[in-house]
Order: sequence, then C-alpha cells, then structure tokens
Amino acid sequence: MKLTFPKDFWWGAATSGPQSEGRFGKDHANVFDYWYDMDPGVFYDQVGPNVASNFYNSFKEDIRLMKEVGLNSVRTSIQWTRLIDDFETASLNQANVDFYNAVIDEFIANGIRPVMNLHHFDLPAELYHKYGGWENKHVGDLFVKFAEQCFRLFGDRIKDWFTFNEPMVIVEGQYLHQFHYPNLVDGKKAVQVAYNIQLASAKTIRAFRQINQNPESKIGIILNLTPAYPASQSAGDLAASEFADLWLNRLFMDASTLGAFPTGLVARLEADGVLWEATPEELAIIKDNTIDYLGVNFYHPHRVQAPAISANSLAVDWLPEKYFDEYEMPGRRMNVDKGWEIYPKAVYDIALDIRDNYGNIDWFVSENGMGVSREDRYLNDAGVIEDDYRIQFIQEHLYWLHKGMEEGSNCFGYHLWTPIDCWSWKNAYRNRYGFISTDIRNQKKTIKKSGHWFKEVAATDVLEV
Ligand code: NOJ
Repeated sequence: MKLTFPKDFWWGAATSGPQSEGRFGKDHANVFDYWYDMDPGVFYDQVGPNVASNFYNSFKEDIRLMKEVGLNSVRTSIQWTRLIDDFETASLNQANVDFYNAVIDEFIANGIRPVMNLHHFDLPAELYHKYGGWENKHVGDLFVKFAEQCFRLFGDRIKDWFTFNEPMVIVEGQYLHQFHYPNLVDGKKAVQVAYNIQLASAKTIRAFRQINQNPESKIGIILNLTPAYPASQSAGDLAASEFADLWLNRLFMDASTLGAFPTGLVARLEADGVLWEATPEELAIIKDNTIDYLGVNFYHPHRVQAPAISANSLAVDWLPEKYFDEYEMPGRRMNVDKGWEIYPKAVYDIALDIRDNYGNIDWFVSENGMGVSREDRYLNDAGVIEDDYRIQFIQEHLYWLHKGMEEGSNCFGYHLWTPIDCWSWKNAYRNRYGFISTDIRNQKKTIKKSGHWFKEVAATDVLEV
C-alpha cells in the first residue's frame, strides 16, 4: 500500500543543544554539566555531556549528513547557559552568538528549515543554587529575557519557535522520579514547578508576539503526550487512567492550547492541599497567550491501573502516583532490546484527541523513535547499521499518523528523534536513536540503513507499507 503525504510535509529529525554540542567556550554549567562534574558515576559508563556528538566542532559536516538523509527540517535548541553571560541582565556571550548564527546559516544554506526550541532541560546550575530553579518564578522571568534575546538575534531567519521541550519530564526528572538534578522527591514542589514553567512559557509567548516582526513566524510548545490506557473498565482503573491523563497530559496541554488548567485536576490538587500558588494576573497571562501550534513527542503509551495502596493512606506525602500505578501489560509488544513498549496506534489516538478536544490545532510529531542498546550488534561488514527494526517502527507510526490525518487531524510533519546518535542524559550513549551512527571513540558518523530509506520517503512524500 502507498500512502501519500502532503507536499510541504516536514520530514525531519530532532536533537537538542545539550545533547549534541558538547561543552564549549567559557560558558556556565547547566544542571547536567554540574551534575557530571560533581558525580560522574550517575551517568552510564561515566560518559558526561562534555563532548556529546561534537556538534560544536563538526556542525558543518553533521548538517551535510542530515541533508544527505533527506531531512527538510531539523529541531535543535539554543542553550541558555551558552548564549547568556549574566542571567540577571541577559547580556550576551558574543562568541556563542556567533556560533548559533553560523549553525542557523548552515542549516539554511543546506535547504533545511531550522526549528528552534528554547529550553531542553538545560537549566543554568547557578539559577538552581541561587533561586531553586523553576521553584522560583523569578527564574521564569530570567528565562523570558533570554528568549527575548533569541527572538531579536535570530528571528530574521528562524520562523519556528518552541518554548519548552517536555515540561512534564522536567517536573518528573527533577522533583519526582530522580533522573534530573537536583534529584528530589517532592510532590508539592513538583506541582508548583509545573505551574511556574507553564507561566514562563506563556510569558515567553507574550514576549514573542511583542518582538516578532514576521507574520509567518509561529511559536508553540513541545509536549510528551502519552495516552494513559486503563487496565480494565473497572471504576478503579478508569479513575486511575483519568487522573494519569489529567496530570501527565492535560495539565500542560489544556493550559497551552485552551488557556486554562483542567478543572478536575485543579479541584483534586486543591482538595489535597497542594495546589500551586497563582495570582489572577498570572492566570490571565496564561489565558491570553496560548500557542500557535504544537509539537508532540511520542515514544510509548502509559498502561495504568488503580494504585495498590489506597490514595488516602498516602495523604501526608503527596505524589501524583498515589492515584495511578503503571503496570506491564501482559502480551505487550516490546522494542528489540526489550526497552519500551511499541504501540503505534497511540499516534492515531493522539491525532483524534487533538482534532476533537483541542480545536484541531496544527501540530507535528516533534519526536518519535526507537532507542536501541548495543546497536553495533547490527553492523554489517561495510560498517553500516542495518536497523530494519527502526524502519518498521517509523513505518507503523507513520501509517497511524496518516490515518489520523485522513480523518481530519491537522498534522504537518514528522521528526524522528534523532538525526545523529547523541548523548542522552543519565543514559549517556546507552541507547542509540539516530538515522546516523556516532562512534564515540573517534566521533566517526555513518548513515544507517534507516537514513537511506528515509531519504526516499522524504523525497517522494510517499510511504510504502
Ligand atoms: C525525549 C527528550 O526530548 C530527549 O531529550 C530524549 O533524549 C529523548 N526523548 C529520548 O529519550
């Protein structure tokens, strides 16, 4: 079967500054640089962010490879810690401004649309130590000043902006599940941080609309939307999936697209005594500054059931997980390295949810992909990784995406995570996701079988399944 996608569809891939660039120049530490300096043992094989995939030094060659794979658009991010010298005044580090200018120009010269995100987990470490990071609304205001600099410096060439990548992962990583520095478990702070990030996103959008001169330019947010499928139709499992959806998806989705947090969530947080501190003025900013379009990162669904421990017995230490347990659904289909569940139909469910419940806002798949450990198992004699499993993974997700589009959902693109194997936080280089492999011993980059395959799809707008 041949599926045809629209002519101007974004065929691309996504990365981020902190995961690709390496630690360059005389810059400030972000929380991951800091964490690695303090405690390298936290990271897989003790590999930190210092080199990443060496984009700082090899961006011309890397962008050439991205073009070779047929990408017409690529998302990356500008690192706050690199662009700015003094966070209070948002004064610039000129050498690093030059770097980002050169990167943007190189993308454009290669016919690749640069899509720019402003925050990809890279909170400046000193803003955590001085202010408590996102716990403090002042840090949100400093972020807006950084964003304003970006709009002024690069807005002549960047038409596609995103405020935050996966804000729920910041909340979970820093304040619930301990995979980002400062590695805390504190449900009350997690709730306030979620609110503060949403507020910072809305203020950034407001600033964009004041500064931006180009009527074609747009701004959005990138959310990891993940359907929370209930284990059964029992009242307990349904209530668990409803709360999981409110917390994991709808908190940022409703606030970013509809301008208000879901009332069911607010009521629950209020009844539990953990609702965020918010002023009417702030809520008006959130209401008035919703997104133009949306990026959706999707990897695997949530499978949820009623929690084993009754919610009331956990009333003292509030955690969102008191209302739902995730479980391993028997018979689920797994990735080749048994990592994450594969469930491509979720993309269709997301597409229809956006169509039916969010005004059919324009959106794209801003990340989707398959992380595989020990991927060198699949190297052939010519040194190319034969990642047929990734080709199949992309095909199946595109199949369901296409079906959602045929049924009227306004999706305008698909980006794989990631163009070139890159550094993945605590997992470092354990799981490989790219169209292009990186040999971390010598930084040699080689196009995988999936990259050659994708080039054809991108060139023709036709997918054979
Ligand atoms: C989501 C994040 O945006 C990215 O930083 C991460 O590396 C990938 N998913 C893979 O887990």
